[in-house]
Amino acid sequence: MGQVEGKSIIVTGGASGIGAACARVLAREGAKVLVTDIDAAQGEEVVADIIRKGGSAAFLKQDVADEKRWPEVVDEAVSRWKKLDGLVNNAGVGLAGSILDFSLEDWRRQMAINVEGVFLGTKYAVKTMKDTGGGSIVMMSSVAGFVGSPRLAGYCAAKGAVRLFTKAAAMECAQFDWNIRVNSVHPGIIDTPIWTKIPMGGQQFNQPAGANALDPNQLAQIGAPLKRAGKPEDIANAVLFLCSDASSYMTGTEMVIDGGILAR
Ligand SMILES: NC(=O)c1ccc[n+]([C@@H]2O[C@H](COP(=O)([O-])OP(=O)(O)OC[C@H]3O[C@@H](n4cnc5c(N)ncnc54)[C@H](O)[C@@H]3O)[C@@H](O)[C@H]2O)c1
Repeated sequence: MGQVEGKSIIVTGGASGIGAACARVLAREGAKVLVTDIDAAQGEEVVADIIRKGGSAAFLKQDVADEKRWPEVVDEAVSRWKKLDGLVNNAGVGLAGSILDFSLEDWRRQMAINVEGVFLGTKYAVKTMKDTGGGSIVMMSSVAGFVGSPRLAGYCAAKGAVRLFTKAAAMECAQFDWNIRVNSVHPGIIDTPIWTKIPMGGQQFNQPAGANALDPNQLAQIGAPLKRAGKPEDIANAVLFLCSDASSYMTGTEMVIDGGILAR
């Protein structure tokens, strides 16, 4: 019997990195997983791999910042699997740059995906879950939701917003006895493609001269007390626990998985 046997769970941003690992680990532990992402090709591949290994999964293309799409995504999970037990609000982008020249357009785009996407997902998941027996919602925040980083002001603002939105949503769900738990996860430096998508030279983050992409393993040697980057599965294991009934007394709280970064 898997740890989330029979549960119906949506994972956003499930085509890559942490989201793909969450989808795989949840499916391995018996969940039916609806993977969504803007990247259909890679999302379909993750789902095909899950099915090949005997799991249950489906893919839907979704931009989490588009409100119209959310009820369709939730309805798809419910029509396939009768209910919605979990939502992993994972999709996100990391845009870096100095406060002095960061564009308002980029600020708004990052907020739309990293914060508004999380609000919208929670809104439509709660609407359904409260009438179908409850569930668990997990937000992918970051250590950047606790502490500031130079050149990441917009990202820190977004992840900090997610951290407090989580607590407010948890309080509302508790007040009305909807049996819905809401918690946030805070990864440190995790080895995923997100680092290669940050459009700036590695030198900006004290990488070796000449580096033009950020290398999470090099960053972690200096930045994390465990001196290595985490793996996407390290985060997926925490998400698995929060989606499972083993965490049934946890709501409104934070799970930090960061190789010790915040302990210093
Ligand atoms: N990797 C890290 O070190 C790290 C650390 C802390 C927090 N996080 C957070 O973890 C989450 C996953 O990041 P990752 O490292 O796996 O990155 P990733 O780039 O590997 O994966 C992110 C996924 O989100 C998708 N996505 C982007 N915009 C989207 C949109 N508008 N709608 C739907 N999907 C969209 C991308 O296509 C991609 O598949 C993000 O919220 C990120 O901020 C990552």
